Amino acid sequence: MTQSKGTYYITTPIYYPSSNLHIGHTYCTVMTDAMARFKRMVGYDVRFLTGTDEHGQKIQTIADKQGVTPQAYVDNVVDGIKELWKTMEISYDDFIRTTEPRHVERVQKIFMKIYEKGDIYKGEYEGLYCTPCESFWTESQLADGKCPDCGRPVQPAKEEAYFFKLSKYQDRLIDLFENNPEFLQPDTRRNEMLAFVKQGLEDLCISRSTFDWGVPVPLDDKHVIYVWLDALSNYITALGYPGEEHELYDKYWPADVHLVGKEIVRFHTVIWPAMLMSMEVPLPKKVLGHGWLLLEGGKMSKSKGNVVDPVKLIERYGVDALKYFLLREYTFGQDGVFTNEVMLKRMNYDLANDLGNLVSRTVSMIEKYNDGIVPNADESTKKLQVELFDDQEKLAARKAAVATDTDLKKIAVGAAQKVEDYMDKFQFNLALEEIWILIRRANKYIDENAPWVLAKDEVNKERLNAVLHNLAEAIRIVSVLIYPFMHTTSKEIRKQMGLWFADPIWEDALEFEMMGGEQVKKGDAIFPRLDIEKELAELEAMQGNGEPQNIPLELKPEIEYADFDKIDFRVGMILSAEKHPKADKLLVFKIKMGTETRQVISGVAERFKPEECVGRKVIVVANLKPRALRGLESKGMLLFADNGEKFEFVTTEAEDGNAVR
Ligand code: MSP
Repeated sequence: MTQSKGTYYITTPIYYPSSNLHIGHTYCTVMTDAMARFKRMVGYDVRFLTGTDEHGQKIQTIADKQGVTPQAYVDNVVDGIKELWKTMEISYDDFIRTTEPRHVERVQKIFMKIYEKGDIYKGEYEGLYCTPCESFWTESQLADGKCPDCGRPVQPAKEEAYFFKLSKYQDRLIDLFENNPEFLQPDTRRNEMLAFVKQGLEDLCISRSTFDWGVPVPLDDKHVIYVWLDALSNYITALGYPGEEHELYDKYWPADVHLVGKEIVRFHTVIWPAMLMSMEVPLPKKVLGHGWLLLEGGKMSKSKGNVVDPVKLIERYGVDALKYFLLREYTFGQDGVFTNEVMLKRMNYDLANDLGNLVSRTVSMIEKYNDGIVPNADESTKKLQVELFDDQEKLAARKAAVATDTDLKKIAVGAAQKVEDYMDKFQFNLALEEIWILIRRANKYIDENAPWVLAKDEVNKERLNAVLHNLAEAIRIVSVLIYPFMHTTSKEIRKQMGLWFADPIWEDALEFEMMGGEQVKKGDAIFPRLDIEKELAELEAMQGNGEPQNIPLELKPEIEYADFDKIDFRVGMILSAEKHPKADKLLVFKIKMGTETRQVISGVAERFKPEECVGRKVIVVANLKPRALRGLESKGMLLFADNGEKFEFVTTEAEDGNAVR
């Protein structure tokens, strides 16, 4: 390896061990791994951190439901997560768990540092809480009355709490986004955050007293530290900050990049920098917000039961095929749709056809035409200048053949720099495309030079050897370039090419003439061809349609039968609907329930046009206490079905006025 280019500290988010991870989670870790391996190869001293975010109400609730302690619950899930990373050959240097003493201790010190700076005070928090996201929201932040992050309902909540003076850092954050565009990329995310901060920042509630599964507030053990303050700190606690063992911190902080999904950019670029500013710790150099992997029906989520399990795909197609697909198919920063078909096509066309064929054809030809020995560098082309060809046709053919050499070599030795340029911008898909330009060029080179024709006549032996040599060189370069993305495949190719004894060195991708005398050895196809139709049917059966799944729903806490029995549901018929004169989001319904007609107001004006509501028979919570909504009385509530995307009335055929039980 060349002399170290310096340090490079890269992190993934720390995952919630609320369930096993799905392919969407692996997407971020696979990108981080590829970047870490790439940076190591080009000469950086890399530190790659990942881990798990184990505190919070959600974990406590799940553990309670399962009748185990939260610690026992997370221990079990975290074992599974570590196992997954092992299967996926993720090259992290450290795995931090927020329940580890090294983290807990340092988070408490961080809390105290911010407190001693005068940035933490005690107050009372009143807000709307989203349990799955562990987030408090203000009315104005809600989207359609729901959590703006996950779209689920929020509940009013109030508690005595400690606050962090986030508002104090508003101007410095604006300055950060405006004057340091590299801090947050892509630009769209930066603009969103800038607008968010400019709206005005409220102080942040950073303690909870409604549950105790968290890091205790050092001043007051009735409270635990807000899970995001706890979690974000992992990036420095894992390096030993604050405390005596700060060598790693001194060496690697500030981080070069935090890779995070788009929905948690806000935490990483507003709360985290403000915490660091308060502690007078340098900010990370860059936060990159990536898009989501979606399914055709929307977001993958355990509660919808539509998650794609990476382990099943790995068992069937191998780690490298899956990694390649994730890195090649999706554009960093944008959402992408995962389908089995797109995945299988990539695996077949790019891996089995392009790469697999190039290697197997070349190895077979070297075995067949040169006893399995890679020929030495081509000396024959030099003769072009000195040899006089009487036959113009032969001369032209020879020149054309040599032109294919020149083209292949140019693309081969030029690829590394292009890959580096794309990797600098986290454009994994374009970096891989660059490598595939070389792979496809080499396949075309085989067809152009038709070694099987050359082999028919001994006079062509020199040219045949040159062609085989050039192909071997191109494959060697490919094996170097793919190493950060698919190191096992790289090693397999190198083994087949007789290079198995040496680990690839990045700089070797810049040289063309390195091979000669290696003994090649045909192995199994590096990527077998897939029968797409058959695979599609089997995957579909595996991923749900065949195997009925029974995944418990995420529900609000249980209620007593007596509580339920207090509610009087009735069938109501909508006689009229009109917009609330003073509120854009509200529809005012006149509802007939048997003998009674009454007014009910719902926040659904953005979902339905008034005229499409009239005549529907709906379910009304009829004995709800009346309340005034922007000056008009609403008596009761209507029921709707909502899956996060579709929003519908719950309707019935029954007579209005009927009781619903
Ligand atoms: N625990 C927090 C992160 C704390 S970091 C200090 C968290 N955990 S998470 O498990 O819910 O999500 C971890 C990461 O996985 C996020 O970056 C999120 O965007 C990513 N993904 C979860 N589902 C995803 C997809 N379907 N597609 C792509 N990434 C996805 O948030």
